[in-house]
Amino acid sequence: MKSYGLNELREMFLRFFETKEHLRLPSFSLIPQDDASLLLINSGMAPMKPYFKGDKEPPRHRICTCQKCIRTGDIENIGKTARHGTYFEMLGNFSFGDYFKHEAIAWSWEFLTSPEWVGLDPERLYPSVYEKDDEAFNIWRDEIGIPERRITRLGKEDNFWEHGSGPCGPCSEIYFDRGEEYGCGKPDCAPGCDCDRYMEVWNNVFSQFDNDGNGNYSDLIQKNIDTGMGLERLAVVCQGVDSLFDVDTVMNITHKVSEITGAHYGDSHKTDVSLRVITDHIRASVMMISDGILPSNEGRGYVLRRLLRRAARHGKLLGVNEPFLYQVVDIVVHENECQYPELREKQAYITRVIRTEEENFA
Ligand code: GLY
Repeated sequence: MKSYGLNELREMFLRFFETKEHLRLPSFSLIPQDDASLLLINSGMAPMKPYFKGDKEPPRHRICTCQKCIRTGDIENIGKTARHGTYFEMLGNFSFGDYFKHEAIAWSWEFLTSPEWVGLDPERLYPSVYEKDDEAFNIWRDEIGIPERRITRLGKEDNFWEHGSGPCGPCSEIYFDRGEEYGCGKPDCAPGCDCDRYMEVWNNVFSQFDNDGNGNYSDLIQKNIDTGMGLERLAVVCQGVDSLFDVDTVMNITHKVSEITGAHYGDSHKTDVSLRVITDHIRASVMMISDGILPSNEGRGYVLRRLLRRAARHGKLLGVNEPFLYQVVDIVVHENECQYPELREKQAYITRVIRTEEENFA
């Protein structure tokens, strides 16, 4: 397996789906448009709900994107686990009433295993399906050739994808076995286990229902595909590193935080957690401010304020009592500008917003 950089992986994914006749779109803003159910965009599909529902005609019925996402539900776990971040990029290929399970499964496998693309070892990949989805199970077994014992059936909690209201459906995931050394050691440790051994990299959602937000499901007028693959997670697997924070572009930011704070990554668990929290929160904050969010006491602005203040507090834990986060903006811009060139144009503004918030907090 060749090790690819995060920026290379993003480009490979988008190019792969262009060869499958998808239209590549840029990431949508983190601010949802006409969607009161969400404070911030949290998945690749979220900005495209009207296309899934058939309310709006998409520019093409096959689209691929790399979407900026924020999820703060697990904020207390950030820095403590290998795979949680508030900011991440979600790679996705989408079908709006076009292809369905056969193509989506075959292409996810081709992208991950073909030596022309990512070239992961197929023996380390384990598909899962929703427990009642025989059709997906049969595709994995009969069309892809995965032995039955390696396909796991999981319940609604793991293999039915929905985030609030809107399009949703059963899903089929692909887990990468990172090796026993990452496992919990329990005899029943397997794909779906909470430990760090089997890392979910790809989620094929067979999006065919609409949830009205109160748990009432109706059939969408068309069958869709909504996939999600966390770019940083894919990079963890390809680069053979321990966590999201050890991925090339993210680690470059941590190095800068280390340089400014004088704290060394790897010295102690406590220091590492603080360095990771700062790295995660500054990435999220730069992207949010770039999309027009300002710190405030409500809604999205409050999420941003909370992230900046948590990062500043972790700075204090590392012994830094002066504003310092604003000095990290340049490296965040540098690591991301090939995909988001607007960051460089807005850098001075983003830096000012962060510095002012740090001063107010101090
Ligand atoms: N929308 C599919 C996912 O985020 O996994």
